[in-house]
Amino acid sequence: MTEAASAAQTPAEYWEERYAELERVWSGRVNLVLSEVAATMAPGTALDLGCGEGGDAVWLAQQGWQVTGVDISPTAVERGQAAAQQLNIPETSLRFESGDLATWGPTRAFDLVTCSFLHSWPVTIPREVILHRATGFVAPGGHLLVISHAAAPAWADPEMLNGYVFPTPESDLAALALDPDRWETLACELREREATAPDGSSGVMTDGVVLVRRMT
Ligand SMILES: C[S@@+](CC[C@H](N)C(=O)[O-])C[C@H]1O[C@@H](n2cnc3c(N)ncnc32)[C@H](O)[C@@H]1O
Repeated sequence: MTEAASAAQTPAEYWEERYAELERVWSGRVNLVLSEVAATMAPGTALDLGCGEGGDAVWLAQQGWQVTGVDISPTAVERGQAAAQQLNIPETSLRFESGDLATWGPTRAFDLVTCSFLHSWPVTIPREVILHRATGFVAPGGHLLVISHAAAPAWADPEMLNGYVFPTPESDLAALALDPDRWETLACELREREATAPDGSSGVMTDGVVLVRRMT
């Protein structure tokens, strides 16, 4: 796929093609920050926004959460469903939907809404709008966790990034536009983690982390 061709696509076209051209795109492992944050909470209902092939959603279900994963790519969603079936996780514990988060909304509120690495380049998505909408999906007493890439990994091709501006935890928090009478901010910070480059060498990645709690 050329950059010019992909930039002209809609997000749905771009992501579906990206998943369809490879057998697997992501590792299938839970994201570290999510595993650390969820481990401090009693399992309840969870919604994974931009769930990809379901690594986070599957892990949450295995920890006892009742999970819904949503992604714009039907192929990614099918892979999440296949992973759940393979692990004998029932649909009552883990279900997936394909939908565009710019307009998709759930019929119920969740104890944990999580959104890991909702980045999209070269095709732009209304990320701030999606994050703000996500605040409406959180139940009273529930949490919203936003994990982002704060910078490109050292091995990323700058041309591929096409001028993409990475969000900061502060810009993600601002996008949520929280009412301070109803929400408390538990984390708005950068966290480093070990990562493995495509050539097998190890490096460090910096994640932006925003964790907020809806009080009422
Ligand atoms: C960088 S991937 C992260 C996937 C997964 N959360 C993870 O951590 O492995 C971004 C995901 O967001 C999804 N996505 C992008 N725009 C979306 C939108 N408007 N609505 C729903 N999903 C979207 C993509 O299909 C992709 O699976």
